[in-house]
Amino acid sequence: MSSLILALVLTLQCMGLVLAQDALGTWSIVLGNAGISTMHAAVTRFDTCIMLDRTNIGPTGRMLENGRCRDQPQEAILKHDCYAHSVMYRPDLKTVRSLFIFTDTWCSSGQFFSDGTLWQTGGDAEGARRIRTFTPCDASGDCDWVETTTNLTVRRWYATNHLLPEGNRQIVIGGSGQNSYEFVPKRTPTEGVFPLQFLADNCCQSLYPFVFLLPNGELFIFTNMNAIRLNYITNTVTKTYPTLPDNPRNYPSAGSGVLLPLMWQDGFTKAEILICGGAAVNASTKNQVNRLASKSCGRINPLADAPVWFMETMPIERVMGDMVLLPSGDVLIINGARNGFSGWEKATNAVLFPVSYAPYNKVGTRFTSLQNSTIPRMYHSTANLLADSKVLCAGSNTHQFYTYTGAYPTELRLDVFSPPYTRSSFTNIRPGFIKWPAVISYNQVFSVQFGVKALTGTIGVMQHSAPFATHSFSQGQRQLQLRTGPAVLVSGTVYTVDVTAAPNAIVAPPAYYLFFLVQRGKPGTGKWIQQTL
Ligand SMILES: *[C@@H]1O[C@H](CO)[C@@H](O)[C@H](O)[C@H]1NC(C)=O
Ligand SMILES: *[C@@H]1O[C@H](CO)[C@@H](O)[C@H](O)[C@H]1NC(C)=O
Ligand SMILES: *[C@@H]1O[C@H](CO)[C@@H](O)[C@H](O)[C@H]1NC(C)=O
Repeated sequence: MSSLILALVLTLQCMGLVLAQDALGTWSIVLGNAGISTMHAAVTRFDTCIMLDRTNIGPTGRMLENGRCRDQPQEAILKHDCYAHSVMYRPDLKTVRSLFIFTDTWCSSGQFFSDGTLWQTGGDAEGARRIRTFTPCDASGDCDWVETTTNLTVRRWYATNHLLPEGNRQIVIGGSGQNSYEFVPKRTPTEGVFPLQFLADNCCQSLYPFVFLLPNGELFIFTNMNAIRLNYITNTVTKTYPTLPDNPRNYPSAGSGVLLPLMWQDGFTKAEILICGGAAVNASTKNQVNRLASKSCGRINPLADAPVWFMETMPIERVMGDMVLLPSGDVLIINGARNGFSGWEKATNAVLFPVSYAPYNKVGTRFTSLQNSTIPRMYHSTANLLADSKVLCAGSNTHQFYTYTGAYPTELRLDVFSPPYTRSSFTNIRPGFIKWPAVISYNQVFSVQFGVKALTGTIGVMQHSAPFATHSFSQGQRQLQLRTGPAVLVSGTVYTVDVTAAPNAIVAPPAYYLFFLVQRGKPGTGKWIQQTL
């Protein structure tokens, strides 16, 4: 009898333990060898993930398929190269397919266009002025990279791109030694580059600037410790912001930043930007690989009358963290290291646990430390939101070449973080799409049919862009909270809800977006809908 009670107590304790851990999210390794160590990653409207490394890195963990090889006379390492440097990951089958990339994508940039094509610009060496496109196909298709015949006006290495409201144009800002921006494609055939003194003034912590399209149509550009607002149509700087305290935030100091969700409740007119972490002051210039990184975050409303940085403190120091907007409305800060800065062998002490930030909780209760991964993700790693509402983490190569020895070997495994909202006890309240439109236009009220076992709250809709993640920043990442009506019962556990689309192309440039239905902060599986002009 007593042993039975003991067994029961142990079982309950064990269950309690499982629940407690579940409440902090879970990790699972989804692929033991992706073939490449991912430096850049973007999720397509077919749910596949396009992953890229550099080409001038020699042998990787995977060959090109069908006996293909790359003969690139300007290649520095392998002029006859049969290794893959880009792959497409299929989350449904947990497999990769090799992609063929011809010119060097090292520290390049990119963005999806309104037709779902990824435009990828710049890089190193022979790739520095190149423009490549990838038109995604169904997961079973054989789509691949295409090298275009047009070039960037200047070489761009470590630039940031942003999709513009016209949907078929992106701006490419900065890059090593380039204190200017340009458009892809050009607005006029003779258009060159536009100088941007702000980048020169913030040298040399100004690479991969954080760029966000604001609801007034201007761009917020943050680099080093400073920010401006740029009217890219008239090529004028319309505002200069106060300095963000504590430490530089951009490469090689490598903090991260997000535009918090734009919300229908504010008429989509309010924008808030959150920038967190990064290396300590002078850590990179003084080569201090053991220097403790920054714990600080700054939050600003760039369209306010007198914008100021509101400072908050993360639970742990982090450099090279990635910030991912979750469909729950929280920000996930994931990957990175506690000491050092961005570069080969320049950081130590990987931070294995992500932290979530709840933007509207009471100050002091916004951060939650979540479950530890087993895989360090430091320099040259990525994090992307998947349609199943989980976060795919890839890459980490703190070495110049693929090196499988030492404290931080080149990482070829993929793992997925399942945030706390995926725990089984929430299955009943996570709404799943049944019917949804393929295409929507601005201000359109559209109906969505969904299924949910327990309807106990209102149904919200979150609209997510598909960003280009690289070097701790997701270029073009944005999230919208759309207006929804009451859920109307169809029958059983099936309901409909009316959703009002975003008001215009400045708030949501035309593109394929991942939509999530959310109940009490718990999203179901997302579906892609094309937002058109
Ligand atoms: C673009 O650059 C490549 C490589 O340098 C060159 O071969 C090609 O002619 C350029 N194209 C144009 C249109 O200038
Ligand atoms: C950073 O380095 C500069 C130049 O050496 C020095 O003037 C400054 O005091 C340093 N700042 C900190 C916080 O270490
Ligand atoms: C994750 O690892 C850190 C550092 O070892 C530790 O302090 C923390 O308790 C761990 N978190 C969990 C949820 O186990």
